[in-house]
Parts: sequence; C-alpha cells; structure tokens
Amino acid sequence: MATQTTYNYKVVRQFGIMTVIWGIVGMLVGVIVAAELAFPDLIHGISFLSYGRLRPLHTNAVIFAFGGSALFATSYYVVQRTCQTRLFASGLAAFTFWGWQLIILSAAITLPLGITSAKEYAELEWPIDLLITAVWVSYAIVFFGTLVKRKTSHIYVANWFYGAFILTIAVLHLVNSAEIPVTLTKSYSLYPGAIDAMIQWWYGHNAVGFFLTAGFLGMMYYFVPKAANRPVYSYRLSVVHFWALVSTYMWAGPHHLHYTALPDWAQSVGMVFSLILLAPSWGGMINGMMTLSGAWHKLRTDPVLKFLIVSLSFYGMSTFEGPMMAIKTVNALSHYTDWTVGHVHSGALGWVAMVSIGSLYFLIPRLYGKESMYSVKLMETHFWIATIGVVLYITAMWISGVMQGLMWRAVNADGTLTYSFIESVERTYPFYYIRLLGGILFLGGMFLMAYNVWKTVKDPKPADDAIPQVAH
Ligand code: HEM
Ligand code: HEM
Repeated sequence: MATQTTYNYKVVRQFGIMTVIWGIVGMLVGVIVAAELAFPDLIHGISFLSYGRLRPLHTNAVIFAFGGSALFATSYYVVQRTCQTRLFASGLAAFTFWGWQLIILSAAITLPLGITSAKEYAELEWPIDLLITAVWVSYAIVFFGTLVKRKTSHIYVANWFYGAFILTIAVLHLVNSAEIPVTLTKSYSLYPGAIDAMIQWWYGHNAVGFFLTAGFLGMMYYFVPKAANRPVYSYRLSVVHFWALVSTYMWAGPHHLHYTALPDWAQSVGMVFSLILLAPSWGGMINGMMTLSGAWHKLRTDPVLKFLIVSLSFYGMSTFEGPMMAIKTVNALSHYTDWTVGHVHSGALGWVAMVSIGSLYFLIPRLYGKESMYSVKLMETHFWIATIGVVLYITAMWISGVMQGLMWRAVNADGTLTYSFIESVERTYPFYYIRLLGGILFLGGMFLMAYNVWKTVKDPKPADDAIPQVAH
C-alpha cells in the first residue's frame, strides 16, 4: 500500500526561484564585463563598476548563486523523492536557504568594494568564509540525515554524486580558506608561495570537478531518466563512472600551473590525470545520452530533453577539450588566451547552465502543482536562443584564443617578435563583439524563462496531482 508522504517542497521552491533570479543577475554582470572588454571606455572612473571588481562578482554570482541555488534545489528534491521521505531537519534546511542568500548578498557588497582574498573562486573574506562553513555543515546534515532515514533499501546513484559534491566542497573550502585575519575585511593565506598556488588550484580544479561537475551529474542522473521516462542506460556504468571520476579529479589541479614554479613532476602528474579524466567523463556522458535510446523521438517535441541532451553534448565537448589543453605543449599555446575562456563557458553555459535550466523546467510545474510550464513555445524559443548564444560565445573565443597564442609566439627570422602585444588586442575586438552578442542572447533566454516561470506559478488552476505527493 502506498504511504502518504508530505515532502518539504518549500525550500526547493525557494532555491528554484532564486536560481532563475541569480542566473539573470550573474549573467547580466557577465554581459557587462563582456561589454567592458569590447568597449574599454564604457565605464570610466567608477571604481566599483570597473572590470577588475565586476569580474569576480560575475564568477561568484554564476557559480555559487546561480549554480549553487540550482544544486540546493535539485538535491533537496531528488534526495526526498528517491529516499521517499521528508527532508531531515526542516529548520536547518531553511537556515541553508537564508544563510546562502546572505552569503550571496555579502559577496555582492564586498566584491565591488574591492574587498577580496585574491584567491580565484574563493575571493570572499574570512567572516563570509565562516558563514559558508556554517551553511555547508547544515547542508550536509540535512542531506545525509535524509539519506539515513530513507525508506528505500538502496541509495540511488544521483545521491552518490550529490553526496560527493557536498563532502568534497566542505574539505576544499576548509583547506583552501585557511587564513590569518588581520582586520575584519583583510586576511592572508596560511600557505606560502608555490604551496599556496598548488593548494589554490587543487581547490580551483576540484571546484570545477565537484561544484560544476559532480553535483550537476547528480542532476543529470535524476532528470534525464525522468524526462525520458526510461531507466538510466547502465546502472553498472554509473557506479564505475562515479568512482573513476571522484578518484581522478583530485589529482588534475596542477594543469592550471604548467610552466610555473611548481615542481615539474607535479605538473606532469596533473597532465596525466587530466588525460585519464577523459574516460570517466565520457562514460558519464554516454550513460546519460544512451538513456534516451528507444526514445529519441521525444527530443523533437520536448524542450526539457533538448536542454538536457544538448547540455550533455557540451559536457562531452568541454571534457574532451580540457584534457587536450592539459597537455603541456598545447597549454603553452592556450594558457593566458581566450581559448581558456571559451573552454570555461562551453562547460559553464553549455553544460552547467543548460542542465540546470532543463531540470528546472521539469521541476517548476511539479513544485507548484501545475500540469506543465505556462508556455512550451517559450521554452522552445529559450532553447534555441540559448544554444545559438553559447555557440557564438565559444566559437568566438576559440578563434581569438588560438589567434592570440599564435601571434604571441610568432618570431621573425632574426628572432624578434613578429607582433606587438597591442596588435593581438586589436585583432581580438571583432571576437569580443561576437561574444557580447552570444551573451546577450543567452541572457535574453533567461528573461523568457523568468516570465514563463512567473506565469506558471501564478496560474490559478492547479493540476490534479497537486502536492502533497504520494510516495510509491
Ligand atoms: C550571459 C552569459 C555569460 C557571459 C556574457 C559571460 C561573460 C564572461 C566574461 C566576459 C568573462 C571574463 C573573461 C575574461 O577574463 O577574459 C567571464 C569569465 C568567467 N565566467 Fe562567464 N559569462 C556568462 C555566463 C557564465 C556562467 C553561467 C558561468 C558558470 C556557471 C560562467 C563562469 C565564468 C567563469 C568561471 C569565468 C572565469 C574564466 C577564467 O578565469 O578563465 N559564466 N564570463
Ligand atoms: C576532463 C575534464 C576537464 C579537464 C581535464 C579540464 C582541463 C582544463 C585546463 C587544462 C584548463 C586550462 C588551465 C590554464 O591553462 O590555465 C582549464 C580551465 C578551466 N576549466 Fe576545465 N577541464 C575539464 C572540464 C571542465 C568543465 C566541465 C568545466 C566547467 C563546467 C571546466 C571549467 C574550467 C574553468 C572555470 C577553467 C578556468 C580556470 C581559471 O583559470 O580561472 N573545465 N580546464
């Protein structure tokens, strides 16, 4: 007999809505910094709107506010549904929501003021770091507490990925943020010189591996089978994928520090593990894609599946490109160029943003007891302008990146440089305009989403399967 379970959807709804809002804010700041690169005189003399201040605001807003909210929302939903039990410790779950919003707000105030620890993706100063720790420990208690009180016998694979993401981010944050406070707004890293750099990029790369990848793979393992209405292609492959991915990612960080003061052997370890990483990454991508086998026709009509499957294609592309860029001789060309920025956004926009958008479109009607999103046509339009936006963004950056790398290394017969640096900047402008256009398109799609979500939530007609849901 089915038992009645009332799930805690309130916190899922709150994080879900904030995902859309922070997505718009973070991407808008992305568009502004893209415009500042294309038109350097755009903002003159206003320090808190300068490129150096807004760029970390962009990365923090899109990764932690947009991506983080999407991860909180989906993990809280998935862990309840797959464990067929209500979220553990509702009060703590509410604290994670309000605490996370406070962290984002603090970032939005301190970063434009130039208050920063100067560690990439870990710029926030020590009082905010302490708040992050409190929220993250609470998140772990809520998530793992729910797993412990599950009514199912096994733990569905999506939860493995979410769990690894939560645990690893805790460790990364604690180790990388070890710092000595000097004033309320200034601290210095506990680590010296090259060790600091190595720890920073052990953190940085695993932030990519666990924040921007493992958590979103959890999303993929739940929402792709749900949207396709088919079981995951291979459960065995998903277990192999999990262990191979989590054990390999940890060692790849030094590929961010090729040709630096880091010992050469450490750089080589980073390169080799990056190359190995191709296998589990593609294993996961194939597992997600093949879940659709026998249901490919659904791709024609279902925009949720379109977002999810295209996100997997970008995941495959960026995890092919990453290992190639980790090869030292390739990195000698790509490092410091826009190629890296293209790679980043093929992962960040193509994979992270698209899988989140697809999952939210699946989730929102269910959270608000509606049959479907207000407008499937708008979802379809969103899908196409977002896809065109990403493609414009990343192809522009690939071309400008390779061009920059080649121009910087070109030498004349007498050994002098063929091009001055400023010549390479001049040649880059057309690509900056194209990137800006791509960004505006992607942002435009987010506005369509916000409108569609608003209309869905406000629709006075609830569908028959309104919450509370019955667990089977
Ligand atoms: C409308 C969408 C977006 C636009 C227009 C945009 C634009 C930009 C620009 C102009 C930069 C600076 C590049 C440079 O320093 O040369 C940047 C950096 C970055 N963005 Fe975005 N972005 C967008 C969306 C996103 C999203 C959704 C994410 C993550 C989920 C993201 C993650 C990053 C990261 C990690 C960097 C730093 C890259 C690096 O250091 O190599 N962006 N973005
Ligand atoms: C097999 C998987 C991957 C490997 C081996 C890899 C490798 C690399 C390499 C070699 C770089 C350039 C380092 C440099 O020259 O500075 C890089 C940069 C970066 N990658 Fe990946 N990548 C992978 C997947 C991804 C994915 C899926 C994402 C996003 C979701 C991503 C986000 C980034 C970011 C944000 C940076 C820029 C870091 C910075 O300098 O600020 N990567 N990656």
